[in-house]
Amino acid sequence: VVIAIDGPAGAGKSSIARALALELGFTYLDSGAMYRAVALDAREREADPAAVAAQLRITLDGERVLLDGREVSAAIRSPEISQAASRVAADPRVRAAMVALQRRMLATGDWVAEGRDIGTVVAPEAELKVFLTASPAERARRRAADLGADPGTVLAEQTIRDQRDLTRAHSPLQAAPDSVVLDTTELGFEEVVRRVAELARERLRGRSGAT
Ligand code: DC
Repeated sequence: VVIAIDGPAGAGKSSIARALALELGFTYLDSGAMYRAVALDAREREADPAAVAAQLRITLDGERVLLDGREVSAAIRSPEISQAASRVAADPRVRAAMVALQRRMLATGDWVAEGRDIGTVVAPEAELKVFLTASPAERARRRAADLGADPGTVLAEQTIRDQRDLTRAHSPLQAAPDSVVLDTTELGFEEVVRRVAELARERLRGRSGAT
């Protein structure tokens, strides 16, 4: 079973997807961490991101992200790597490698997978697709609070990344036609988790009833 949570940066995908996975007893997949790991590895080795992506040795272990066995959970969250990740994610060769890796992971077990293209490209057969959004100002406010950063700076950086993610030629960020779009600008965290969990349970019930 796959539950896809897509949407722009700062819409609350990670925290919602994590909470949902915990509640349902599913495994959480942070696909953005994979693009970030490619960006970090390519930068450190001054290598072509596509070559790095083709042989990425990444382990996603709960909260921890390991690159070749080395913990990079904090290093991949820096503002520099955020921008670099958004650039490498526009490279179709990097995307092809990541999508293949993600599909292999999702092929067995029960997952809550979070990203930009899970419902559209990686797992179009997902049992439930949720597209989380919020106003740009609210998304920047939340991320600034998380990072302890200045909201204005975060908004400026977020606008550049949004623009790149939305307009790239390959798998631009867009809601799958069969996704449930949820605008969280006015909703609290618990409320969003409650609504998404309810949708997931409905779909899972429908599924077991059909077999
Ligand atoms: O979700 P995030 O901020 O950690 O993602 C980092 C970058 O990777 C972001 O700019 C968009 C890109 N990304 C993507 O293109 N496809 C995904 N499935 C996940 C992330």
